[in-house]
Parts: sequence; structure tokens; C-alpha cells
Amino acid sequence: MTTALRRFPHWPRALILAAMGVAMAAIFALDTLTDYAVAAAVFHTAIILVAVRWFSPRVVIGLTALCIVLTLASFALTPAGAYRTGLINMVISILAIAITAYLGLKMVAAQNAAHEARTQLMRITQTTSLGQLTASIAHEVNQPLAAIVTSGNACQRWLAQEPPNLAKAGQALERILGDAQRASDVIARIRSMARGEAPSRQSFDLNDAVREMARLSDAELDRRGVALDLQLAPALQPAWADRVHIQQVLANLLLNAMDAMQGTPAAQRRITVTTQALGQQLVLTVADAGEGLSPLARTHLFDAFWTTKPDGMGLGLNICRHMAEANGGRIWATDREDMRGGTVFHITIACAPATGDRSSTGLRHG
Ligand SMILES: Nc1ncnc2c1ncn2[C@@H]1O[C@H](COP(=O)(O)OP(=O)(O)O)[C@@H](O)[C@H]1O
Ligand SMILES: [Mg+2]
Repeated sequence: MTTALRRFPHWPRALILAAMGVAMAAIFALDTLTDYAVAAAVFHTAIILVAVRWFSPRVVIGLTALCIVLTLASFALTPAGAYRTGLINMVISILAIAITAYLGLKMVAAQNAAHEARTQLMRITQTTSLGQLTASIAHEVNQPLAAIVTSGNACQRWLAQEPPNLAKAGQALERILGDAQRASDVIARIRSMARGEAPSRQSFDLNDAVREMARLSDAELDRRGVALDLQLAPALQPAWADRVHIQQVLANLLLNAMDAMQGTPAAQRRITVTTQALGQQLVLTVADAGEGLSPLARTHLFDAFWTTKPDGMGLGLNICRHMAEANGGRIWATDREDMRGGTVFHITIACAPATGDRSSTGLRHG
């Protein structure tokens, strides 16, 4: 139906209707003037098919009725031939016209339904991705914002002291500025990821990035009574990834590790972060001494909106996976083997290309 419309969008419907009228008159004349044996009335089915393409169901039904009336009239007016054959031909013609109209209208209804469903699906996909984007930003920005509030409160306390501790207040302000910068970086990265842009990969020191993130998580770790152990491989080759992405992944894993250890005895609440080189890749791991992974968690861990926490969003690990993969790496979880319980998350990160071919993009994929 749409092909014809697309090809001749300017054709006035009146012209088509007139052409159909001429054709119907011709079929009527042919059916009437030839003898009963010639079932010219079946050509009315062509009229119905054209009508289905161009006109509303009501017009199609009207034209169908008209075609049937014309078939009956031409049967009555046909002067010659075997009457019985004519009767059978007339019945066949009328059935063919009615069935064509019925099937044609059904087809148009199905096409309309399919079109409607496609439009609806597009709308749903758009709102879902918009909702997911908003939720991701809210999720990722929540942590730096909470840190800003904590540091702001600390800053206020240092300033309220008599005499004010300006050095400490200055440090708190520095943390606020760092967190605010990180929040705005995070938004920029998520937006560019949602637009399908490639991450901005650069060469950087993975250990430095980990130390920086550890510093930023200090207040939260303190608040939850969790110790952080950094076991960073010395003289690590530079990493080749989007530094902010890797830090966001680490931030999410640290938060999850802290959440998982809420039921762990205070003395055992420890997160170990390691870095190491493995062939042409770097591996970052985050191990906790928490509740470990349930069989259900193992299958749904990285699904968007899958959470076991009452106030969870279930987006952290989904974002982590997107970011790890966008940077050519991989992320997966295993049980912790050196302790009674806990989970280890592993992320692979590409090493920076050797100096000289660093200008080329994309390069090594984990
Ligand atoms: N370190 C961990 N130990 C045990 N379970 C975890 C750990 N990290 C994540 N999970 C499980 O995976 C789920 C999804 O995590 P995530 O995507 O970060 O969303 P959220 O933290 O909002 O629940 C969590 O609700 C939790 O059940
Ligand atoms: Mg989480």
C-alpha cells in the first residue's frame, strides 16, 4: 500500500476514483455484452485491490457493494448463453469480490497495527534509554555529591574551631573541588557514552588513578569502618583507557564491596585492591570479605536494574561493564579463595601502545 503512495504521492484520489469508475463501467459492459460463459465480473476484484490501497475501509465496502450490484445487474441483463453456467459464474464472481474485499481490509488492518506497534516500540525504547541515562547519571553523581556534603560539613567544623583550623579546612575544600570536578567529568562521560561516542583513551598511570580514587573514598570508608588495602604492582606499564571510566568502575566496585560487608564483623571489613600486568594487559582487582555471590547474583550481576538492595538501583555493575567494554576490556567476578567468604571483581585494561604508534586510535583491545 505504501509503495504506491510513496511513488505517486501527488495523485489526486478523485482521479483514481474516476479511473476506477471507468474500469467498472468497462467490466460491466463486457460482462453484460458477452454471454454467460464469460465471467468478466471477476475483474472487479482488481478494482477492490486498488480501492484497498488508496481508500478508507468505508469506501472499500461501498465499492464492494457497488461491484456486487453491477455483477447482479449484468447477470440479469446478459442476453445470451447457458443460464446455469452464468448463475454459477455470477456466484463465483460475487464470492471472489467479497473475499478479496475482506482479505484486503484485514491486510490493511494488520499493516496499521504493525505500524502502530512499531511507533509505540520506538517511543518505549526512547523513553527507556532516556530513563536509563537519567538513572545512570543520578547513580554515578550521587557518590561525589555525598562526598562533597561530607567534606563541606568537615570544613564547617574546622572553621568553627577556636582558633579555626585553616589547614584542615583547606584540605576539605580541596576534596570538595576534586569531587565537584569528578561529578562534572562523570556527567560528561555518561552523556558521551549515551551518544555512542568512543571513550577518550589516553595513556595514564593506573596505580596513580587507583590511589586518587582511594583518597576520594577515604571519608566513606571511614564512615563504614572499612579498611582499604592497596597492593599495587611496582613499575607498571602505562594503561591505555579513559581514566575517568576506570575510576568510575573502581568507585562502583568499592561502593558495592562496602555494601556487601555490612554484615561482616568490624575487624574483618577490608577491601583489597590490586594491580598487575598480565601479558599485554593490566588487571585491576577489587576483593571484599562480604556476603559473597548468590547463584542468582551470578547470573544477573551485570543486568541493568537488577539489585538486591532496598535502596539500590542495580545500575552500578551494568555501567561498569559498559565502561570496561567501551575501553576494550572485560569485567567479571569470582569467589574469593583466600578467605572464608567474599567476592573478587577483575577488570582488564589495555596497556598503552609503545611510544611512536600512540597516535593511532583504538589499538589494542583486551
Ligand atoms: N561485592 C559484592 N558482593 C556481593 N554481591 C554483590 C557485590 N557487588 C554487587 N553485588 C550484587 O549485585 C547487585 C547489583 O549491583 P549493582 O549493579 O552495583 O547495583 P546496586 O549496588 O544498586 O544494587 C547488588 O544488589 C548485589 O546483590
Ligand atoms: Mg552498586
